[in-house]
Amino acid sequence: MRVLVTGGAGFIGSHLVEALLRRGSAAVALDAFDPYYDPALKRRTAARLAEAGAEVVEGDVRDPATVERALEGVDRVVHLAAMPGVRASIDDPLTTFDVNVRGLLVLLEAMRSRGVGALVSASSSSVYGGDATPPFREDQPASRPLSPYAASKRAAELLCATYAELHGLGSIALRFFTVYGPRGRPDMAIGKFVRAALRDEPVPLLGDGSVVRDFTYVDDIVAGLLRAVDVVAPGGGHDVVNLGGGATHAMKEVIALIEAATGRPLRLERRPPAPGDMQLTHADQARARARLGFEPRVPLAEGIRRTVAWARGEPA
Ligand SMILES: NC(=O)c1ccc[n+]([C@@H]2O[C@H](COP(=O)([O-])OP(=O)(O)OC[C@H]3O[C@@H](n4cnc5c(N)ncnc54)[C@H](O)[C@@H]3O)[C@@H](O)[C@H]2O)c1
Repeated sequence: MRVLVTGGAGFIGSHLVEALLRRGSAAVALDAFDPYYDPALKRRTAARLAEAGAEVVEGDVRDPATVERALEGVDRVVHLAAMPGVRASIDDPLTTFDVNVRGLLVLLEAMRSRGVGALVSASSSSVYGGDATPPFREDQPASRPLSPYAASKRAAELLCATYAELHGLGSIALRFFTVYGPRGRPDMAIGKFVRAALRDEPVPLLGDGSVVRDFTYVDDIVAGLLRAVDVVAPGGGHDVVNLGGGATHAMKEVIALIEAATGRPLRLERRPPAPGDMQLTHADQARARARLGFEPRVPLAEGIRRTVAWARGEPA
């Protein structure tokens, strides 16, 4: 099996590419090394992936020629390339939609012209927005997204549904719930807090620590992605599936766990709550279990210990 992973040099993408190679699948990592966060990190990751046997293609998912080239010989696509930030999407919604929606369309058209009929894509718990009842089930309406980012991810799901109807695409859109772990995105809370604790630096806390998240360790996300890659098939229709860690934790608990794992108190600077953020996320796991056999294995305390060990440069 040959799998194209867009956003392959990013946080989740790079873990997925490594896992694909480990199990003997060929992997192509397409990435634009976007400056949303330090591109040097992504380039170093890409170099390691190339050493491990991945084909790395530098280019933009919005460029049809690049995407067509990357699709050569590919039978499955995992689309992770995106502008991933809620805050960034409020500041610059045009770029968020250009990458997350037009970028997906370019990919879908290239897949159609190359005859590649199976796609797994990254959606987000944020699509549940303002009208969902926890635990969030995939059959809830998801029609009140609270940020342009969330709206772009919902629009992307709908486009996949259209291509399944019109062109027989087999599609699974996975709604990831707050993913963390080694090489985690530097703009996300756990990574920021761990770094600040280890460097004894102050760090902003948005809100009062009462925000609740269903955190998911990156290895669990990768296990779900691999299952989706194996299950998705041309002509199989479109589905959305939650991938969540299965337990909810307030940011206050996260802070306590990071302090325990690092042995250092966090120097928190209180800031107003982030606009566009949800107060709570919680995945219902029934569909993920039924369709993908998904069982998250890494509880938050263990995942934080592993993330801290990685940040300290300890061997895995
Ligand atoms: N991390 C999370 O908690 C989380 C939660 C929900 C959904 N997601 C989604 O999962 C996917 C992966 O997220 P991540 O956390 O690994 O983010 P990431 O930023 O680490 O990875 C995204 C990668 O896409 C690349 N990219 C951006 N624009 C591109 C373009 N135009 N062409 C080609 N490559 C481009 C970036 O350079 C980056 O390497 C994204 O679609 C994100 O929206 C992530």
